[in-house]
Amino acid sequence: MSEPQTYPSTNALLCSRLVDSEEETVDLALNLARNLRAGDLVLLNGALGSGKTFFARALIQSRLFEIGAWEDVPSPSFTLVQEYDLGTDALWHVDLYRLSGPDDIYELGLIDAFETAICLIEWPDRLGHLTPKNAITLKIRDKGETSRQFDFTFPDTDRGHLLAATMTGPPTP
Ligand SMILES: Nc1ncnc2c1ncn2[C@@H]1O[C@H](COP(=O)(O)OP(=O)(O)O)[C@@H](O)[C@H]1O
Ligand SMILES: [Mg+2]
Repeated sequence: MSEPQTYPSTNALLCSRLVDSEEETVDLALNLARNLRAGDLVLLNGALGSGKTFFARALIQSRLFEIGAWEDVPSPSFTLVQEYDLGTDALWHVDLYRLSGPDDIYELGLIDAFETAICLIEWPDRLGHLTPKNAITLKIRDKGETSRQFDFTFPDTDRGHLLAATMTGPPTP
């Protein structure tokens, strides 16, 4: 009689990484950065100071570096949106913490940007029912000093599977 079939307990669309330093966070951000294109959305969840802006900054600066550009990438906590021209793609870095209401989401032009730009969104819970279904979700947890737990969830779409494979596959040299 054959052994009962066992299945891997990890879902290919989930990717968890525990990092010990800011440099490792940068590496993680670079890995995702190079595969993102317009229409990809990353929802950045985590408490204040967990590293959402730090991760987004590393991601944006790596893409700017590719086109020979540099910007300091300030937190969009007051402006709500900072827009970047990455050459081939536009990127919106969004912080919804200070959103006054759902109307702001339309006024900011965010719904269009979901389709036309790469969107990195801090405090995405503010989107409520407007939260896109096809987004990559990242949850960051502060594990003390410079340790952080990163939990990525990729959407169950062809695109989501492709992006998940680039994060979970063997490290590229
Ligand atoms: N491994 C790490 N990854 C990300 N940030 C880290 C890490 N270690 C320390 N930090 C620090 O944590 C802080 C994160 O701040 P920030 O990115 O503004 O948080 P958030 O946007 O989530 O409120 C920064 O001061 C950053 O230097
Ligand atoms: Mg922030």
